[in-house]
Amino acid sequence: MTRRVLIAGNWKMNLLRAEGEALAAALAAKFTANGSADMLVCPPATLIAPVAAMLEGSMIAVGGQDCHMKESGAHTGDVAAAMIGDLGGSHVIVGHSERRADHGETDATVKAKAEAALAAGLIPIVCVGETEAERDAGKAEAVVETQIRGSLPEGATETGVVIAYEPVWAIGTGRTPTTDDIAAMHDHMRTVAASMLGGAGELRLLYGGSVKPGNAAEILGLADVDGALVGGASLKAEDFLAIAAAAG
Ligand code: PGA
Repeated sequence: MTRRVLIAGNWKMNLLRAEGEALAAALAAKFTANGSADMLVCPPATLIAPVAAMLEGSMIAVGGQDCHMKESGAHTGDVAAAMIGDLGGSHVIVGHSERRADHGETDATVKAKAEAALAAGLIPIVCVGETEAERDAGKAEAVVETQIRGSLPEGATETGVVIAYEPVWAIGTGRTPTTDDIAAMHDHMRTVAASMLGGAGELRLLYGGSVKPGNAAEILGLADVDGALVGGASLKAEDFLAIAAAAG
């Protein structure tokens, strides 16, 4: 098994240019590939270029937080996958629960966006995750399975796509599922993805939702957790580096 841990930061709609550059510089100064973890930061679209410039020559990759499903055209305010690649981006998050909720993105939308990412040579990080009501109703695994089946792009390969499990109720709340629940979900996700991709031994499955330096080692130590998608704690260099260090 050759899966490397991926520690991805989702800066969301935060940071102006000077702040983003300072954060990128602090990460680049301290992050040395420790042999097992890859690091990625996903700034807002406005900061992809300056952050990529700050990270040049470092071991840290840059990505986007969303892309449009079309290659180009009359889509005011949107960003095409190729534009992210053009600025040095290698990955793009698609289907984050905040986009599913705020912009009405369905599994079909997310799948089309992930396909646009692949067509542009980017690795899509496809986000899935249940609401608290769905978990309470015992439907978490079924919901996530439906999302994976509906959102994974055609033509995906095990190494060409990443899936992030982010329970909606754990995002930005300081709450996380139990490690047993995360382990069970990731095991199920790998089985579902394997049935679609013809295998999933190389597929990276990230956990996201209130990952902090204090819980990272426990979560990243789980067998089927291959990294983390980190929101709030990715805005502080010290915290994000500590999470990467916890990957061992
Ligand atoms: P959080 O966000 O780490 O602030 O909970 C995670 C995410 O939304 O990707």
